[in-house]
Amino acid sequence: MVILGIETSCDETGIALVEASGGLKNPRFRVLKNLVASQIKIHAPFGGVVPNLAKREHEKNLPILFMGLGNPVSKFDVIAVTVGPGLEPCLWEGINFAQFLAKEHKKPVIAINHMEGHIASVLLSQNRGISKSEFLISKQIEFPALALLVSGGHTELVLIKNRLDYKIIGETLDDAVGEAFDKVARLLGLPYPGGPELAKLAGWKPEVGSRKLVLPRPMINSKDLNFSFSGLKTAVLYALRDNPKTNKAALAKEFQNAAVDVLVSKTMRAAEIHKPKTLIVAGGVAANKHLQKELTKTLKTRRLPLKTFFPEKGFIGDNAAMIAAAGYFHALKKDFAVTAKLKARGRLSLGAKKS
Ligand code: KG4
Ligand code: ZN
Repeated sequence: MVILGIETSCDETGIALVEASGGLKNPRFRVLKNLVASQIKIHAPFGGVVPNLAKREHEKNLPILFMGLGNPVSKFDVIAVTVGPGLEPCLWEGINFAQFLAKEHKKPVIAINHMEGHIASVLLSQNRGISKSEFLISKQIEFPALALLVSGGHTELVLIKNRLDYKIIGETLDDAVGEAFDKVARLLGLPYPGGPELAKLAGWKPEVGSRKLVLPRPMINSKDLNFSFSGLKTAVLYALRDNPKTNKAALAKEFQNAAVDVLVSKTMRAAEIHKPKTLIVAGGVAANKHLQKELTKTLKTRRLPLKTFFPEKGFIGDNAAMIAAAGYFHALKKDFAVTAKLKARGRLSLGAKKS
């Protein structure tokens, strides 16, 4: 089966073609094309995503990317499109385009939750030079699985008892962790998008004996699996206000340490309670090297025998290949949408009905 993926939930326009086989038990994916048009340059002067500008860019980019798939363009069996969560004007662009293609090429459409796409992203590999045999032994998730989803809009712990059976067992009560990275980056005067820039600055090494800056680890000792990052961001604001000469690299490092400490601690608690066989870490913040290192180290020291998956480089940020991969499972279950009734769902949550 070849799935055409469409992603327009935020500021990246994505179109992808993914070949899938193996069924629900042993799914295998070959990414034939994964095209992403980034809008970083357009939103950078505003310091964040401007929804109407993003919508206009999606409208412009979608047909261009689609042409980039090459000929014959109709070589796909189903269309998988993100319907939420995200910015509704942007989501509508993807949905309208999916509806147009469905009519033009007489193909069914599957409505995908963006976060489900991030979960599926860990199953993808770059197609460059991939041999048929590698394709056959691609990565497999064992259930129950636990997913730590960390992006610009979400911070969630999701228990996946079986394929497509999602239950949110913890989430942020205020800012998402990626949002906190972006806001703190702004406070530190770093350019947009802030998360990766802050992570770079946090690589700074303190001098031996220098005074240690300490920020709070919000909710690290709470018994539940929820998060809160807005107080941590405010703590950075106060540290700068009280002492404008504070070393910004030291602040960046301590902010990253604090955020990662909370993420790791809650993930370990969830793993100890629910005893998953696989841990999936996905969403934009999964690119954070400190998070990757600390999670891997802590799993080892706690002797938790968990297979851990992070997405490969090209599939961490928003992309349409992950939407196509998630679409495969729904296609197998014949979970097709009534094309004309597709609707953008800005606040769609995992496990909720999509159409
Ligand atoms: O999943 P994603 O690409 O888009 C959303 O669905 O939100 O995530 C984007 C988020 C942004 O907040 C960005 O700053 C953050 O991921 N991010 C990072 C890193 N790379 C991207 N945060 C921390 N460290 C990074 N290396
Ligand atoms: Zn995302």
